Amino acid sequence: METEKEVARTSRRSFLDVLGAAFLSLWGVAFLGVIYAYLGAPRRRENESGGTLRAGSLDRIPIGDAIVVQHESGPVLVARIAEVEVLAFSALCTHVKCVLRWNRENQTIVCPCHGGAFDASGNVLYGPPPRPLPKYSAEVRDAQIFIRLT
Ligand code: FES
Repeated sequence: METEKEVARTSRRSFLDVLGAAFLSLWGVAFLGVIYAYLGAPRRRENESGGTLRAGSLDRIPIGDAIVVQHESGPVLVARIAEVEVLAFSALCTHVKCVLRWNRENQTIVCPCHGGAFDASGNVLYGPPPRPLPKYSAEVRDAQIFIRLT
């Protein structure tokens, strides 16, 4: 038969065992959460692969038009100048980095901030931009546009 002192000790021990198990369980859940977050974190955007940006289908750009594709290193302007020919430039103005736009009528790249403009090869036409646009190698494969960013 247990004495009152032994019952209290047993009860205290059970409480500490439960507390310890709860602590270890919470620690385990937190550890698994960290592992899950690490394994589930996106390493690369879907449209990027080894320094090449996949800019989508050629069909999305009418001939003579351009789009701006977002990339982690900055926006990229992709112009379709012929049936299967595209050009790609940084879409950041070389003056103070405003995002550029394509002017379909004039086939030029224009800056909305201070009126600068570039030709379809990225050369400065007029305005404050101090230098041409950085140009990227671009190609069309299987009707998809690929831009080499490195
Ligand atoms: S930022 Fe483009 S002209 Fe100034």
